[in-house]
Amino acid sequence: MVALSIVEAANTARATNKAAGRPYVAVVSGGTSGIGMYAVQELARTHGKAGEAASRGLRVYILGRRASDELLQSCRTLCPFGQFEFVQAKDLALMRDVDRVCEKVVALEKEKSEAEGHAPKIDLVVASQGILHFGGREDTTEGLERPAAIGYYGRMRVVDRLLPLLTATVTPPSPGHVAFVMNPQLEGNIVADDLSLRQSKNYTLRNRGSQLSVYTSFYCEALAARNPGTLALVHYYPGGVKSNISETSSLGLFTRTMFRIAMPLMRIVQVPEAESGQRVSFLGETSVYPPAEFPVKPDGATAKIPVSKGADDKTGSGAYRINYDDDVIKFNDKTAGYRAQGMADTIYKHTQRAFDVIASGQKFTE
Ligand SMILES: NC(=O)c1ccc[n+]([C@@H]2O[C@H](COP(=O)([O-])OP(=O)(O)OC[C@H]3O[C@@H](n4cnc5c(N)ncnc54)[C@H](OP(=O)(O)O)[C@@H]3O)[C@@H](O)[C@H]2O)c1
Repeated sequence: MVALSIVEAANTARATNKAAGRPYVAVVSGGTSGIGMYAVQELARTHGKAGEAASRGLRVYILGRRASDELLQSCRTLCPFGQFEFVQAKDLALMRDVDRVCEKVVALEKEKSEAEGHAPKIDLVVASQGILHFGGREDTTEGLERPAAIGYYGRMRVVDRLLPLLTATVTPPSPGHVAFVMNPQLEGNIVADDLSLRQSKNYTLRNRGSQLSVYTSFYCEALAARNPGTLALVHYYPGGVKSNISETSSLGLFTRTMFRIAMPLMRIVQVPEAESGQRVSFLGETSVYPPAEFPVKPDGATAKIPVSKGADDKTGSGAYRINYDDDVIKFNDKTAGYRAQGMADTIYKHTQRAFDVIASGQKFTE
């Protein structure tokens, strides 16, 4: 476990790193509620607490469907000199909408960085959009199963679209970071001959959980391997955190009622909202989560924290599976077996095919 005091000190050190010569830029998709929203607020709090003179500046793009004046107001109160841009999505289950929203982020960031006189760069993407779904299969008009379209394909598409700014080389060198809020502990079976789980015998709750989890881990590995020195990715389990997910997901009356009863009881074991936001923000810490082949010098708040072990069990390999308290999640032998068969590449290519087919205006049917 990394102590919260170290997490906060490292977050403050990044916020006050004036040598960067430009503001810290984060994009939080699913940033309008729950874990994503706490990350936005804690970024604001950390910079606001440091003060305008000490902070390097902060710009956060918040992606989601529901514009929240309350959230924007709270961010401006926490950090009056920060820039908080809400970029409204219609439905991030649709890759076309992901593309539209990301084009807007890129255009805004290019415009703002040019006005400030530095190269455009995104430091951190947090992908936290997701719904709970226990019912039957429902596909989007683009041919993707809806919960997977939001929680896996749409998240990966966000990163793909923002990749040029995430991996842009700047001086001093500053890699891009990505955090996927999900759960590596759900990694299980891969149905190799039905990767989209289209056959009803394969569309089980367990396979669906495993699909979101193991595909996320493998896509992280594939991207880390393709972007050495410039991109680090974390598949993160946030622990139990108070959120709106049971209200905004289309759950049956029974399941929703069970959630409403269980939630107050869960409070005692839940990760507090502010701690959750600080820990998600910490996933952008290069000294602990560096890209592959990125030299790290132990220094400052994290000097005594070892560089994390990657999903492949190698230190600093660029793709990480991390628990809510910043411990590395136990190596998964089953996933290792799939990795040895080249499944990370298979999943990456399957996902890219889905993107290409949809971008060409067709429905994905694989
Ligand atoms: N909370 C926990 O204890 C916990 C534990 C483990 C894993 N997780 C995972 O963490 C992720 C975040 O969950 P949370 O608990 O923070 O839930 P939440 O409060 O419901 O937040 C979900 C976010 O996703 C966005 N979203 C959902 N559907 C969308 C769509 N079709 N288009 C655009 N945005 C969409 C929502 O924004 P809008 O409504 O504004 O669109 C919201 O910002 C989920 O994947 C969840 O499974 C949560």
